[in-house]
Amino acid sequence: MSADSTPLQSSAVINEAVQTLRDGGLVAFPTETVYGLGADAKNPEAIKKIFTTKGRPSNHPLIVHLAAPDKFDQAQIDWVALLAPWARDLSEEALRLINAFWPGPLTLVFKKDKNVLNELTGGQDTVAIRAPAHPIAQELLRKFKGGVVAPSANRFGKVSPTSAADVRSEFEGMLDLMVLDGGDCEVGIESTIIDLSSGDKAVLLRPGAITPSEIFARTGVKVYQVGELQDNLEGHGAKEDLPRVSGSLKAHYAPTTPLRLYASGRVLDALSEYPDTKSQVAVVVWDSESSLVLEDHPSIDAEEIIVSSDPNTFASRLYRTLRDLDQQGWDLILFPEPPAGENWDGVRDRLQRACFGSGPSSSSHASN
Ligand code: TXA
Ligand code: MG
Repeated sequence: MSADSTPLQSSAVINEAVQTLRDGGLVAFPTETVYGLGADAKNPEAIKKIFTTKGRPSNHPLIVHLAAPDKFDQAQIDWVALLAPWARDLSEEALRLINAFWPGPLTLVFKKDKNVLNELTGGQDTVAIRAPAHPIAQELLRKFKGGVVAPSANRFGKVSPTSAADVRSEFEGMLDLMVLDGGDCEVGIESTIIDLSSGDKAVLLRPGAITPSEIFARTGVKVYQVGELQDNLEGHGAKEDLPRVSGSLKAHYAPTTPLRLYASGRVLDALSEYPDTKSQVAVVVWDSESSLVLEDHPSIDAEEIIVSSDPNTFASRLYRTLRDLDQQGWDLILFPEPPAGENWDGVRDRLQRACFGSGPSSSSHASN
């Protein structure tokens, strides 16, 4: 984290947030990935408020956020003790992942302890946990001294927020929502999710900034794709054991403006496929690409928006760009298809779902 670019919330404000959580209220707070909408993981009524506020179906499980104790030597943190109230059967591989990546943008799914509330797991026998790295999230969690469930702080299916202002605009009119301001999120897309609950194999449920190769390089743990495992499982008839993940819905992270991807160098083809919406088009282009000579296309009023061709920088700005373009009243937004390769998997996943869900009919609050 770049602590110098993080606006500080005073401890009085954090204390008020802690009290709000203890009283069963919701607090939106920054993490290094996206802003979360937090509630006490031990309070069923508070958890229900999250689902109603977001408009999220109650069988979509939440991630429990835990504090990493403030130790000079992070290697000395006793994660086994900290996880004991939440998860059981921690494998040696799980500890290697935790020691390498927590606090950070990695969520792990474990078999749950019997005391973990069904309201937060959507009735599943597993629980997702992460320790976020953002200093404000850490301070909030340490002072709260408990688990905080926090989905991304957006209405169900919409673009996740990466600034405090984004959160406020998502929940405009809900006067009592407390939002801690930690500036812009550095990672910009949600955490990588790895399922460790089957005991033997680590399975990637949601791609993010931390990739399977990075995990293998730093821990020696091989992470399987769901597809790879399904093929294996098919013979054993165990496919239905795979967990439910709301991020696995085809439509998600979606703007209200129609959004489409275009293949490299084929922007004019993409434009001509949408003759009805050709009036005002925002065309996102890589900074590495020369200008697209859009003026060759007579009937389209298009404007180029330049984005980084580095996957991490692109990810950190993705939701910001989608939100800003969505506000600007374009008829169509075109994004370039991300290149092949694992470093782009997180971004490609979000963009594909955003395309699928985009358009006015996806809006539950069209006036925003
Ligand atoms: O980066 C993040 O993970 C952000 C920040 C706020 O921490 N949180 C986030 O939460 O993305 P949410 O609720 O928007 O997405 C959580 C994902 C969902 O797709 C959910 O289905 C999955 O985690 N999940 C939660 N518990 C699970 C479980 N027990 N098994 C499988 N997937 C689970
Ligand atoms: Mg979300």
